[in-house]
Amino acid sequence: MIPLSGPDITEKEISYVNDVLKNSNGILSIGPWLERFEESFRQFTGKKYTVAVNSGTSALFLIANAMGWGNKDEIVTSPFSFIASANTPLFVGATPKFVDIDFNTYNMDFNKAVKACYSKKVKGIIAVDVFGQPMDITGLKKSLKDKKIPVVEDSCEALGSEYRGRKAGTAGIAGTYAFYPNKQITTGEGGIIVTDNRKLYEYCISARSQGRAVTGLWLEHERLGYNFRMSELNAALGVAQMERLDEIMEKRNRAAGRYYELLNGINGIKLPHIDKNVTFMSWFVYVIRISKYDNEFEEFRKGIQPDKINKFKKLLRKTEKTRNDLMKHLSDHQIGCKPYFTPIHLQKFYKKMFGYKIGDYPVTEYVGSGTISIPFFTNITIKQQRNVAKKIKDFIQ
Ligand SMILES: Cc1ncc(COP(=O)(O)O)c(C=O)c1O
Repeated sequence: MIPLSGPDITEKEISYVNDVLKNSNGILSIGPWLERFEESFRQFTGKKYTVAVNSGTSALFLIANAMGWGNKDEIVTSPFSFIASANTPLFVGATPKFVDIDFNTYNMDFNKAVKACYSKKVKGIIAVDVFGQPMDITGLKKSLKDKKIPVVEDSCEALGSEYRGRKAGTAGIAGTYAFYPNKQITTGEGGIIVTDNRKLYEYCISARSQGRAVTGLWLEHERLGYNFRMSELNAALGVAQMERLDEIMEKRNRAAGRYYELLNGINGIKLPHIDKNVTFMSWFVYVIRISKYDNEFEEFRKGIQPDKINKFKKLLRKTEKTRNDLMKHLSDHQIGCKPYFTPIHLQKFYKKMFGYKIGDYPVTEYVGSGTISIPFFTNITIKQQRNVAKKIKDFIQ
C-alpha cells in the first residue's frame, strides 16, 4: 500500500517526546516545551506573538472571537477549502460569503474577493492558502485600503510558503498553521496563531486557557474561555519538527518536482499550477485534476446557452465519473488517494442552511469534480512515485 500521506518521525522527535516523559517532573502541560514551540514560530515568521493551540480549527475560532465577528456579519472566504475555514464564521454566529476560485491556482479569485467586500455587512476575510499555495494578501490589503476590512490568513496548509518573498500567514492581522499528521510538520494534533496585534494575542492567550489572565490565579477567570491548550508532548514533537522544517520542505519540494517530471504530458490530466509570484512553495499535497473536459467548461463559462444548468450538471457528472474511475483504479492497486476538495457550499448542511445549489460557484464545482490528491509525504520514494505515475498512465492510455 502506498499511503496518501503520513508524518516524518525521526529519532529526534522520539527523543524530545521521551524527554518530556522522563524529565519533566510531571509538567505535561503549560511548560517549557510550549514556550520553545511558540518561540520557534516567532523566529520563523518574524511575528511578535504566537499562541499554540490544540488544532488549526481552534486557532481560527479564537481569531474569529477576537475579531468580534458575530450576528449578521459576513466573512468573505473560499468554497474550495477544508471545511474549517468556512465553518469559522458560523462558530461565532456570522456567515461565510463565498467567492468563486481562480481556475489555475484554486485560491479565491482575487478580483471577485475584492468585489465581494463592497458591502457594509462584510467584516472580514478568511483567505485560505489552498494546498500550500499562498494568496496575494499584501495585494488584497492594498486593494481594500479604504475599507479597513481585516484579512485573516488561513495558512493551515502553507507553512513555509512565500508570496513575493513574504511568508504565508504573516501579511494579515493574524495567520494560522495546522499540524495534523498529513501537514508539512505535525504535533499529532495542533495549530498556532501568529500575529503582531497585541490585543488579539492577549485575548487568544487568555481564551485558550479558560479565560484566565496571563498573570492571574488558576481559578480566576476574566472572560469566557475554553481549553484549547497544546500539551507538552505535542509541543516537544513540534519543536523537533520545526528544527527539521528546512529539511522537510526540501524533501517535499524534490518529491513534487519528481511528480512534475513523471506525470508531464499525460493527456487529460492537469498538474498543479503555481503562480509566478510564489517565490517559495512549501508542498502540502500534490493534487492533479481531470482536465479532459476543460474546453466544454470554457464554453460553459463564456455565456448564456439554452438549458445551461442541465448541461453543466452533465459535465460535472462526466468529470466526476472519470475522476472516480481513476480513484478506483488507484485504490485497486493499493494506492491511497482522495477527492480534494468537495465544494463546501454543496456539503449537506450548507445546502440546508443557505439553499446553495449547483451553478452558484461554477469554477469551484468544476474543479472539485475533477481533483484527486495522490500519495505525497516527506519520505515518499522515487519507486513509489514511479508506481503511482505508471498506474495513472495505465488508466489514461
Ligand atoms: C485550510 C485549512 N484550514 C483549517 C484546517 C483545520 O486544522 P485542524 O484539522 O488542525 O483543525 C485545516 C486542516 O486540515 C485546513 O487544511
